[in-house]
Amino acid sequence: MKKYACLKSIASYIPTRCVKNSEFEKSLDTSDEWIRKRTGIQTRYFASKEQNTSDLGVEAAKVALERSGFQASDIDLVIVATLSPDYLNMPSTACLISAKLGIRNKPAFDISTACSGFIYLLSLAKAFIESDAYKNILIIGAEKVSSVLDFTDRGTCVLFGDGAGAAVITSTTDKNNSILDVHISADGSYHDFLFTPRATRQSEFMQENCISQYLQMKGNETFKLGVKTLISDVEEILQRNNISSTQVDFFIPHQANLRIISAVGEQLNFTSEQVVITVQKYGNTSAASIPMAMNDIYESGKLKNGDLILLDAFGGGVTWGSALLHFGG
Ligand code: ACO
Repeated sequence: MKKYACLKSIASYIPTRCVKNSEFEKSLDTSDEWIRKRTGIQTRYFASKEQNTSDLGVEAAKVALERSGFQASDIDLVIVATLSPDYLNMPSTACLISAKLGIRNKPAFDISTACSGFIYLLSLAKAFIESDAYKNILIIGAEKVSSVLDFTDRGTCVLFGDGAGAAVITSTTDKNNSILDVHISADGSYHDFLFTPRATRQSEFMQENCISQYLQMKGNETFKLGVKTLISDVEEILQRNNISSTQVDFFIPHQANLRIISAVGEQLNFTSEQVVITVQKYGNTSAASIPMAMNDIYESGKLKNGDLILLDAFGGGVTWGSALLHFGG
């Protein structure tokens, strides 16, 4: 019988330190009013000094496992998407999370696709399950973006937050409970729109010719390209699956900027009940933003088994992607 991939559970972890826009007013030429008006962001959460990305990811993963009904020993593969790994190149954050969960002798690796991370994770999990390579896959989007932020750059540091989201993807024969379609893409010619010269433990590795070790972004250019790409990407996946926007229960776009979400939502005729918005609370948590938003509607009791969800993301690389799935939890 044909195997399909089912998103069985969703969970998130939010660090405890809530940072209001007004905190940035103390050290930067910015204001709560500017940040709210231009981005929709009101608060974000930052991890403590002691917490690394893997610590955030493991907390989300524990809850996702519990909600899936599986034990850590049932997991065949762990994949993590992050732009803020604990270590620069190795070991991967996925290996660290596997170890913390007690998962041994199972493959684990990271992917680097910035804010599109969760869509890329779904694409990989779907392919591995449909080809019968693995049965139960733990996917995690985890970010300590604060570790790569330049807190003197008002153009970037007010936009991002830390957090993690995790899901267990499992094999099913029920197509009506499965991930129907995932589309991923990239265009490296825009690589300089968003980049981090060095990763988390950057100061140890900084090169003399490295201008800054922190995340840098051409905000306005990214904004315009993001809106255009997200709209055409959603139109394409809906068309390919012969689905109209009215049939979608929840549209969960990447949470970077309320103006981007509104522009995309309006252009595609989604109602405010369909569009999930969490950017005001969490800021942009990169690869964690979509699973964190999905977990919000799950925990509020709105998301039900079988609901049709549309996901869409755009991020550094540049990368983008969309996914259409029935919630299987
Ligand atoms: N407070 C006050 N003023 C500010 C701030 C701030 N925090 N940040 C920028 N400004 C100023 C600029 O310096 C500029 O001033 P100037 O006109 O004197 O030069 C002015 O505001 C306008 O700047 P813009 O960059 O044109 O502002 P814009 O309306 O484009 O908003 C923003 C900036 C919020 C960054 C927006 O462009 C954006 O959201 N971009 C997209 C982000 C995104 O989608 N990223 C993709 C995913 S992220 C990932 O993959 C990791």
